Amino acid sequence: MSNPRLFKEEVKLRCIHCGYTMDADPWTFTCPRCGSLLEVEMPTNIKFSWDVARKRRFGLWRYRELLPIGDNIEPVTMHEGGTPLLRLRRVENGNAYLKFEGTNPTGSFKDRGMSVGVTIAKHLGVRGVIVASTGNTAASAAAYSARAGLECVVVLPKGKVAKGKLAQALLHGAHVTEVEGVFDQALERVFAEAVLKGNKDLYPLNSYNPWRLEGQKTLAFEIVDELGESPDVVIVPVGNAGNISAIWKGFKEMYTYGFVKRLPRMIGVQAEGAAPLVKTWQAKSSELIAVENPSTVASAIRIGKPVNWLKAMKAVEESKGAFIAVSDKEILEALRYLAINEGIGVEPASAASLAGCWKALEEGIVAKDELSVLIATGHALKDPDTIINRFS
Ligand code: F0G
Repeated sequence: MSNPRLFKEEVKLRCIHCGYTMDADPWTFTCPRCGSLLEVEMPTNIKFSWDVARKRRFGLWRYRELLPIGDNIEPVTMHEGGTPLLRLRRVENGNAYLKFEGTNPTGSFKDRGMSVGVTIAKHLGVRGVIVASTGNTAASAAAYSARAGLECVVVLPKGKVAKGKLAQALLHGAHVTEVEGVFDQALERVFAEAVLKGNKDLYPLNSYNPWRLEGQKTLAFEIVDELGESPDVVIVPVGNAGNISAIWKGFKEMYTYGFVKRLPRMIGVQAEGAAPLVKTWQAKSSELIAVENPSTVASAIRIGKPVNWLKAMKAVEESKGAFIAVSDKEILEALRYLAINEGIGVEPASAASLAGCWKALEEGIVAKDELSVLIATGHALKDPDTIINRFS
């Protein structure tokens, strides 16, 4: 049999800045004309039936026709996605659901992106994958590459990764390199090694890789699948800003295909000490206002120069949403609140979505009766030290 097509026919890559469009290529991450990031452009004539899809297991590959991966490619999967959409019961949260991504195989939403990204890497026949990470991407890349029989190289900010995540990366046999500084320095290192030098034995799977984000857009598909329509608002913790961009893309595709009649407003939440997008948005700046030494208890989103900043700005602008900053105190209050009042254990970055929801309700950015979905991105066990230090 001939080698199956990696991507579906008619899938393209499109520059988010200048609109230049090119054929699908797993190794092109920036626009050859202007250097900006790319996004995957799906064909509009897809064949997708909810009735057929719903006979499949609830999860990422239920929507396989809506993913760019070729029909005959065997996915690297651990049944990621299919995460619970839980109603928050109390009036102080408005009319909210929480999508608990902590139930993914490695405990965070990153598994969605890694299932797609590692499927591509395996097909390419590379030696392994490489990522910079605040922890969850590393844990997920390590597990999925182990499953695919690939090596995994992770570059981490020294001393700044929560224990659960570091343990997972080590457990699954990743090669760990530590760099001084924060995530931004780790990402610069990976970008320089893996992308600028054109090195092709390790496939880079940070979120400047638009193919990985295709896995993450299924968060939107699952919300639509369960609610039957877009909610009014989606609230997402933002670090490197890939996820908010991917979720928005997912809703836009649902709209383009005619599966929903309206689009949600996207609200991105950052920690006050690591809020480059809040600053950029408030200043209406056309350049990123980076934060040099980002600091927050939410180590997952301790990022000062989000690579997907332009995609995220567009998501918030196009959807008429907002960026909100919350303090560490508010994040920890929300974390504790979810644990005590709802029985849901999340890591600090994930609690930023509830802290952001409270602030949005207080400031009238979201009305009490509007339907919100909060993305709780990772499990409490990811960061045991913070919980033991703050709550014992
Ligand atoms: N929440 C958690 C738990 C995360 O791990 C991350 C990102 C985010 C939110 C923000 O998502 O970067 O797409 O805006 N973690 C990355 C990592 C940076 O390396 O694990 P984003």
